[in-house]
Amino acid sequence: MRKRSPVYFDEKSEIWNVFSYTDVRKVLWDYKNFSSEFEMDGILKGTIINLDPPAHDKLRALVSDPFSPNNVGQLSNRIKDIVNEILNNVKGNEIDIISELAIPVPVRVIANLLGLREEDLWKFKDWTDSLVGVNDYSTDKITELIEYLSEIIAERKTEPKKDLISLLLCSTVDGEKLTEKQLLGFIVLLLIAGNETTTNLIGNGVLTLLENKNSLYELKKDKQKMTTAIEEILRYRSPVQGMFRVAKNDVELSGKKIKKGSAVLAWIGSANRDENQFPNADKFIIDRSPNPHLAFGSGVHTCLGAPLARLEGKIVLSTLLERFSNMELVDQRLEPITNGLFYGVKSLKIY
Ligand code: HEM
Repeated sequence: MRKRSPVYFDEKSEIWNVFSYTDVRKVLWDYKNFSSEFEMDGILKGTIINLDPPAHDKLRALVSDPFSPNNVGQLSNRIKDIVNEILNNVKGNEIDIISELAIPVPVRVIANLLGLREEDLWKFKDWTDSLVGVNDYSTDKITELIEYLSEIIAERKTEPKKDLISLLLCSTVDGEKLTEKQLLGFIVLLLIAGNETTTNLIGNGVLTLLENKNSLYELKKDKQKMTTAIEEILRYRSPVQGMFRVAKNDVELSGKKIKKGSAVLAWIGSANRDENQFPNADKFIIDRSPNPHLAFGSGVHTCLGAPLARLEGKIVLSTLLERFSNMELVDQRLEPITNGLFYGVKSLKIY
């Protein structure tokens, strides 16, 4: 598609599909023509992912600080503890990377950030699963989650702690604070945007290294290569394959006339394999540099959690390489997940 029809209107879905690197980047950057303010139901309506500047930038400034690389770096030891604790509890020689490691790690990290009680973890896991469709989508579960979070917010208002909720409660920009609705929406956004994506980064990483054994050995010999390895995994098997926008004006893209109001889908996964941008795009090159992939988006909506996702990915992969030094796939038959624009596998057993 990228070569034959780089900007393609699908009559059935009535969606404009955008495939080349240059066009995908343009759609993600150009919020004046390609807006994020499309109809969204429920709690995510009006969160940063659903707003254009200037409203977007104001709200993002209120929530950004805890996610800066510096602040996220301080979570390193806690993340290592979580990963080791999970691996210490694995019974036998086999582990399903997805269900036993890649799903629990991001959920535990976010629960930790939010300062939730240990005994609430299992409930929290159940609620977050229903947000991303592992369980059947259940409005009751979402209501339960919102009630639970509202209670925690109320507790933190009277007795602040050193956690994300307490920090966000006192964050101010130009004298303005987050409303309770904005805070709740943001926390739910974190759960949706941060969990399954990171799960798939971890799963896709292990799978890619098992398929590219030379890279796996290189990485074992030289841990410094982990930084470029994570970027290349993100490019090669992008956890989020595409993002939606809506045309705000009549706009032309690579010679195609897109009418105001049309839905536009920017295919990040395709852009990241574009030969015009990445030489040998279909090859996994562990020390590829430069690597300006779009896996975390681009422009004003660039992933807020990118430093956290990178850190989690690095810690999980490094720990696995130490503890499963000769890892192999138990079964070569893998099933892709079927959750919208997310890309990963359902299960990945190694020994
Ligand atoms: C935005 C991907 C992990 C929070 C985005 C966007 C992408 C993305 C493509 C851009 C959305 C757009 O353009 O409309 C990923 C991937 C991840 C990951 C591939 C893991 C490998 C995380 C984590 C968190 C997070 C761990 C937080 C805990 C967010 C938020 C936004 C966002 C809040 C909205 C930013 C805005 O609209 O200004 N992410 N994400 N993400 N991500 Fe991530």
